[in-house]
Amino acid sequence: MLRSGLLLGHFWEFGAEEGDEVAGTPRIMTTASWPQVEENTDMATASKRQKTPEMPFVCLTDFQAQARERLSKTTWDYIEGGAGEGFTKEDNIAAFKKIRLRPRYLKDVSEVDTRTIIQGEKISAPICISPTGFHCLAWPDGEMSTARAAQAADICYITSTYASCTLEDIVATAPRGLRWFQLYVQRDRQLNKQLIQRVESLGFKALVITVDVPITGNRRHDIRNQVDLKTNLLLKDLRSPKESSGPCLQMSSIDPSNCWDDLSWLQSITQLPIILKGILTKEDAELAVKHNVQGIIVSNHGGRQLDEVLASIDALTEVVAAVKGKIEVYLDGGIRTGNDVLKSLALGAKCVFLGRPILWGLACKGERGVEEVLNILKNEFHTSMTLTGCRSVAEINRDLIQFSRL
Ligand SMILES: Cc1cc2nc3c(=O)[nH]c(=O)nc-3n(C[C@H](O)[C@H](O)[C@H](O)COP(=O)(O)O)c2cc1C
Repeated sequence: MLRSGLLLGHFWEFGAEEGDEVAGTPRIMTTASWPQVEENTDMATASKRQKTPEMPFVCLTDFQAQARERLSKTTWDYIEGGAGEGFTKEDNIAAFKKIRLRPRYLKDVSEVDTRTIIQGEKISAPICISPTGFHCLAWPDGEMSTARAAQAADICYITSTYASCTLEDIVATAPRGLRWFQLYVQRDRQLNKQLIQRVESLGFKALVITVDVPITGNRRHDIRNQVDLKTNLLLKDLRSPKESSGPCLQMSSIDPSNCWDDLSWLQSITQLPIILKGILTKEDAELAVKHNVQGIIVSNHGGRQLDEVLASIDALTEVVAAVKGKIEVYLDGGIRTGNDVLKSLALGAKCVFLGRPILWGLACKGERGVEEVLNILKNEFHTSMTLTGCRSVAEINRDLIQFSRL
């Protein structure tokens, strides 16, 4: 029913050419440019899905291992890969393990509440979904499955500019879900404006501007896999189905000239809160506050952009200090356990976001897999709170943290 010889590469997060829509199904890429060796991968994957016996998934890395089995090598490399030597990608995880917890006991923890509020909206736990492109590569229903799982879990799902389903389909399939929209600012201003107005009218609650992709990072796996960066990817037309004329996002690329002064233009055309994703330094955090944005996601794009930058959790403290509580600060990158969530909140994040683990969940079991990933992490976080004596997220603070002397 779906992809034949899927392809992609840097373009997932970079640009696209031409779209296609099949009635009643998600919009998907339709021509192949993965290397030949990957052809028929989806048939093979589908057959593996049928044959693989149901296994208990008890932690997020169980999904990682299974997803690797189920996806083609090129797709796996694309999802999993980091930039350069993959140092920052690894460090995102390792840095959490250098932080030790200081539990407090003899508090009544018979009731523990994981709920919180971001940008004025209630969520069931401070665990949400980062924007990642082209979910149809991992599961046929793509972002529609993700959106339904996010709605069921009662958390926020940031939809990528490069979603493989239309925004209308995503909203229709999970109309009650809390959604933010991630924008790669395009060279064509009119196109940005149309897209922003469209997501606003579709009920998205915030605009997330990704700032760390003026160009795409150097992803060696994709180059080794000979993904053709120039000719291949077909991306749907991101214009509203109702728009018959005007600029089109296809082939339009991310604007590397985008800078701080351009924020005021974006602010002039939307009522939505603006959140900057990819901030790693106190200098940029101060500028973000000065330019009146409503939030920051501390992120290094999962180590996929500039290698050897700080791990997200290591950058969090200086960003939180710089904003002085004036705006909300979130984090993504390397969140794999409930303790990671607890440590992030203890160091000042209001909420964390998951990138790859959501795609692992999708690849393993579609919507149900995403729900399980979210539930496992939520349960682990609940346990972490209980065992450190935190009855509500408001009780999570810096005193819980001991940086290891190792
Ligand atoms: C396959 C893939 C696609 C991504 N696509 C986007 C995207 O379209 N927009 C964006 O802002 N970030 C994108 N990211 C970065 C994620 O939003 C997030 O910052 C990162 O995955 C978090 O790290 P984690 O994977 O360790 O959780 C992508 C990441 C991956 C792995």
